[in-house]
Amino acid sequence: MNNRIVVVGSINADLNVLVDRHPAPGETLLGSGGHITAGGKGANQAVAAALQGADVAFVGAVGKDPYAAPALEFLRSSGVDLTAVSEVDDTTGLAVITVAKDGENNIVVIPGANSLVNCDYVSSQSALLAEAGILLLQGEIPADGFKEAIHHTMRRVVVNLAPVIEVETSALLEADPIIANEHEAGLILDQFGAGIDSMDPHELAQALLDAGFASVVLTLGSAGALVADATGITDIATPTVQAVDTTGAGDAFAGAFCARLIKGDSLIDAATHAARVGAYSVQTAGAQASYPDTSVSLPSV
Ligand code: RIB
Ligand code: NA
Repeated sequence: MNNRIVVVGSINADLNVLVDRHPAPGETLLGSGGHITAGGKGANQAVAAALQGADVAFVGAVGKDPYAAPALEFLRSSGVDLTAVSEVDDTTGLAVITVAKDGENNIVVIPGANSLVNCDYVSSQSALLAEAGILLLQGEIPADGFKEAIHHTMRRVVVNLAPVIEVETSALLEADPIIANEHEAGLILDQFGAGIDSMDPHELAQALLDAGFASVVLTLGSAGALVADATGITDIATPTVQAVDTTGAGDAFAGAFCARLIKGDSLIDAATHAARVGAYSVQTAGAQASYPDTSVSLPSV
């Protein structure tokens, strides 16, 4: 089963709040929306990969509450193997997402059941992890669970450290590639004591290579992406689209990227495809609800 992607990560219910603009500190605003959709960076990436044709299994947890069903909706319908998803005595992860008119969002996450994805739980899923062709990780689970997942994986590890949590640098360096936006790249470099003043994507990527990563993918929103490894640094263009909701666009990228990588695509080819999937997703509301399957024609550059 080396052609399988295993995601060890978070599952959230997203509470979507629409506003004209984001509130200032201390300010009360009226909003609209209030509907619940499926989210969580782990689940988003798993669904994006499955919709792009990959065989995906998930290691994670939801609560025994009414938010579990909507949180699992797309994981189920996209065919992700959920045998390693537990129902625990806690609340399902909840993300309060405020989306402004320009499509930009603010997110606060209450981890709830995702806190159970710790060292003990992950180690109980070692058989599944040993079979993974790609292990895909994010930063929405406890650091000891994150590290344990890497420990049980024999093959490729891909990490999108969002949000940036403190993980042992030796474990983090297993990432090939590390996927990050510019902000996250800066914080990761700080963890290595290798922070740089520049926010220039090429300089950030080079600094991450210098810190010891075998390969780096920087996601740059509407400016596209960048792929870096020992052979050089390549800019990846992204199609220009009308952004309605950027929530989970980075997750769409990471999932679609792994779906192509596991089929044998190069980093550059996988990132080129992933940028188109990410661009597609910002055109409609929500995270998973906006992800394309392989029947959809994607915007082109
Ligand atoms: O990356 C977007 C995701 O972040 C949302 O779906 C929300 O659940 C938070 O985890
Ligand atoms: Na979207």
